[in-house]
Amino acid sequence: MNYLVFLGSARDSTPPRPARLGARVAAACCRLVTARGHRATLVDPLEIDTGGVFKPQFAYAEGRAPAPLDALAKMITQADGYVMVSPEYNHAMSPALAHLLNHFGASRFAFKPSAIVTYSAGQWGGARAAMGMRGFLSELGCLPVSAMVHIPKAQEALAEDGA
Ligand SMILES: Cc1cc2nc3c(=O)[nH]c(=O)nc-3n(C[C@H](O)[C@H](O)[C@H](O)COP(=O)(O)O)c2cc1C
Repeated sequence: MNYLVFLGSARDSTPPRPARLGARVAAACCRLVTARGHRATLVDPLEIDTGGVFKPQFAYAEGRAPAPLDALAKMITQADGYVMVSPEYNHAMSPALAHLLNHFGASRFAFKPSAIVTYSAGQWGGARAAMGMRGFLSELGCLPVSAMVHIPKAQEALAEDGA
């Protein structure tokens, strides 16, 4: 199976420290997926130039969207499922993740499983953000699976390489 692991944080600053806990959480997800014999491809919002002012990939004429959007659209279509990794920001899912996902039409995600993985530097592991993600991912067309992962104090639970 071919999974996309979406890294929900686009934070590139401190404080709070350490910078971008999400990198280690996404790395942990990639390790777990590959350890089970599947393919995991990391999708990092910091590496995807969405083209400035918000314009969804599906709003462009065929072949006119920014190349990174077309490339990710193809990856989403070809994937068998998704791992959505999100920090909790003010009890909600990551705006960076929502923004990135909003660029793509629901039919690309349709009927494919999605895992919700949340984390935080504090003690609740992003559980409150996760509840909102269920509705968001359902509307996006993919099927959030029942089991969820929440990682409190991710800076203590995981090493930088996801171990
Ligand atoms: C704007 C903002 C809002 C936050 N809100 C919460 C919150 O509601 N609950 C929580 O447990 N942690 C919250 N935190 C702390 C995050 O868990 C912590 O900064 C974590 O490192 C964020 O993930 P990231 O480093 O991958 O961006 C917040 C952090 C920021 C920057």
